[in-house]
Amino acid sequence: NQDMLTDTFQRTHSYLRISLGERCNLRCLYCMPPEGVPLQPKDSLLNAAEIDRLTSLFTAGGVDKVRLTGGEPLLRKDLPEIISSIASRPTINSVGITTNGITLSRHLPTLVEAGMTHANISLDTLVDSKFTEITRRKGLSKVLKAIEDACEMLPKGNVKINCVVMKGFNDDELRDFVQLSKDLPVDVRFIEWMPFNDNGWNKDRFLSYQDMMTRLTYDEDGNVSSSRNGLGPFELKRLVDGANDTTKWWHVDGYAGRLGFITSMTQNFCGTCNRVRLTADGQLKVCLFGSAEVSLRDAMREGASDSDLSLIVRAALQKKKFALGGHGNAEGIKKANNNRPMTLIGG
Ligand code: GTP
Ligand code: 5AD
Ligand code: SF4
Repeated sequence: NQDMLTDTFQRTHSYLRISLGERCNLRCLYCMPPEGVPLQPKDSLLNAAEIDRLTSLFTAGGVDKVRLTGGEPLLRKDLPEIISSIASRPTINSVGITTNGITLSRHLPTLVEAGMTHANISLDTLVDSKFTEITRRKGLSKVLKAIEDACEMLPKGNVKINCVVMKGFNDDELRDFVQLSKDLPVDVRFIEWMPFNDNGWNKDRFLSYQDMMTRLTYDEDGNVSSSRNGLGPFELKRLVDGANDTTKWWHVDGYAGRLGFITSMTQNFCGTCNRVRLTADGQLKVCLFGSAEVSLRDAMREGASDSDLSLIVRAALQKKKFALGGHGNAEGIKKANNNRPMTLIGG
């Protein structure tokens, strides 16, 4: 069903994000409430066969890119099987994961063998004590090692660092993050902090794309930075972005990796949105910020045929709002407060 994934704004959805579980081995404060979230029993989550069936439905509808998220996707024991079942579909071009990297080094060979093509690794600070403060666990050195290992095993351009920027927490580390991409072919992306239920979002601690740029370019006195952190000046060049990218891409002259900004709040990229999501418990979410959800799990478990499922997906996509789930801006999203916590969506 070719129109299944076209919305009323003529956006075609070719990128499916599947959350594989609700558990996580970190407790990042910007992603979940401090007390954690209640977890559903395992049989409430999609099993590998159900994921395979839905992937088949979505690839038939035009999906060619899948990203596996969580919670933490590496906690899912059958991850290699899930990756290989997706990767073996002839029309699939990429199968990525978004992970906190804690156990990635150990799993990498198996995952690459299974067909994983991309890895996005979350890392918000390079300072050990701050890592523990934000994630409420230890593990910075493991994540750094995972980034290096992933760069060795995957092609250049296929390993990214996701860094959520929060004023007063890590906004003094932007240049140190960029420095990681000097010798390592890793793309560093700074992400505007987004409000989700119970994640402490607050406009005073929000740092915009524009402010991040200013911080990379000027020193505290407003002069073009020449030696901040002793790193020398950055020559930043704007690159051409991919048609459906979440990222505004830049390059620092002479560096191995790229530099990117995910500007969801100040310059949203909803006009070219090609993303649909499945939560771990099998709800279809047509927008990251839309509260509307429809259970494909329940439909499948009640015996729906593929054409029934396809009609359900189509009807949901027809209700997709143009931008930010219809909430207008960050304040509107925060005020509505009707979404899942980020950890139960998967980004
Ligand atoms: P690539 O496929 O490598 O481009 O990654 P991605 O940006 O699609 O996914 P990733 O899981 O690495 O997410 C990085 C950041 O982008 C996270 O903060 C996500 O929440 C955010 N993001 C991903 N998709 C969307 C989207 O559709 N809308 C918005 N507003 N943010 C998104
Ligand atoms: N705002 C922006 N990005 C977030 N992530 C988690 N919570 C937020 C938030 N509140 C990022 C993580 C991970 C990706 C799935 O989403 O860093 O890389
Ligand atoms: Fe797409 Fe919603 Fe993200 Fe905008 S906020 S890019 S519409 S998923």
